[in-house]
Amino acid sequence: MESISRYGTPPTRLISMMKSFEYPFRNVRAGDRFAILTDDQMDPLIWQAMMAALHARGAEACLCLYPKRAYHCADPSPIAVGAAKEADVVIALTTTALNSGTPGLRQIRSEGGAKGKTPIWLWEEINQEILIEGGGACTEEDVREMCEIQRRMGEICDAGKTISVTTPGGTDLRADITGYPPGALARRWGAIPFERDAETGRFGLSPGTWPFGEFHVEPLAGTANGVVVWDHTGQYPAGQWHEPVTVRIEDGHVTDISGGHEAAQIRDYLKAYGDENSLVVGGEISIGTNRKCPPYTGNMRSEKKRYGAMHFGIGHGADRGEVVSKLRYEGICDRVTMIVDDKHVIAKDGVILV
Ligand SMILES: [Fe+2]
Repeated sequence: MESISRYGTPPTRLISMMKSFEYPFRNVRAGDRFAILTDDQMDPLIWQAMMAALHARGAEACLCLYPKRAYHCADPSPIAVGAAKEADVVIALTTTALNSGTPGLRQIRSEGGAKGKTPIWLWEEINQEILIEGGGACTEEDVREMCEIQRRMGEICDAGKTISVTTPGGTDLRADITGYPPGALARRWGAIPFERDAETGRFGLSPGTWPFGEFHVEPLAGTANGVVVWDHTGQYPAGQWHEPVTVRIEDGHVTDISGGHEAAQIRDYLKAYGDENSLVVGGEISIGTNRKCPPYTGNMRSEKKRYGAMHFGIGHGADRGEVVSKLRYEGICDRVTMIVDDKHVIAKDGVILV
């Protein structure tokens, strides 16, 4: 986040920022109802620009601003949940992550828009630099290339039984990845984002996370074994870490979290806000595909999408609905090697090979 540390976040950046909404909002039409959830830590210029971009396309944009939540995956204000239920699309522009495990988010997804299944576009922890110079500066061509890579990874994992991940930092983990519906991963991860459903005309299952670019698979519960070394950053403590954090996993359970100050902070964080299942895997094994996300940002929004870096999550499962917990905690492992069934090399040392 070099530009922000040098120059701050001047309101004049509105001039460049407006362009960054062109691609994600290209299919927004008059009458679409957007609820933007945000908090008092978010750069106000971003929600101002976002509302201006939506308003210019004739959409109805409503902002719900509340004090920053105490931890990632904490529910939004219940009043904001009420507003979100009236929306066609919810944009999470918060500085703490939201996931589908929170009761409020589950309510929005199932009841929203008066028509059910409201999409929630995850933009949490976004900043001016990510939008203008980083992963948010992707072109349509960039996004199409990422979708194609992600689709190919999906095909391999759909046909595979096990995944092994290693990193130069010391990660060495294996897990079973069976049990998804046929073709589910290729279909999901090959999909172009921010598209309207051809039949209903609504924004539906199309991805809406920005910046774009990841492929993930959730290990089958009870099958992950080995070591994960989060070596750059994680959801907490924020920023570039000084010492890596080593996570030991046996039969899908976290048995030890060790390292320096960061490891101690994570243990305290999980104790304060998590529950028993927050140490179950669950979570996700994921690789970023966005080449415009630079290294060493210390910002999870960007690091999660960074080409060749893995975010590995523990706790609430991303897809299967089997591991349910208060928290999902995610951290970054750099230059990942991913191999399916001991023979299909998806990525080697952070270079994607499919
Ligand atoms: Fe992910």
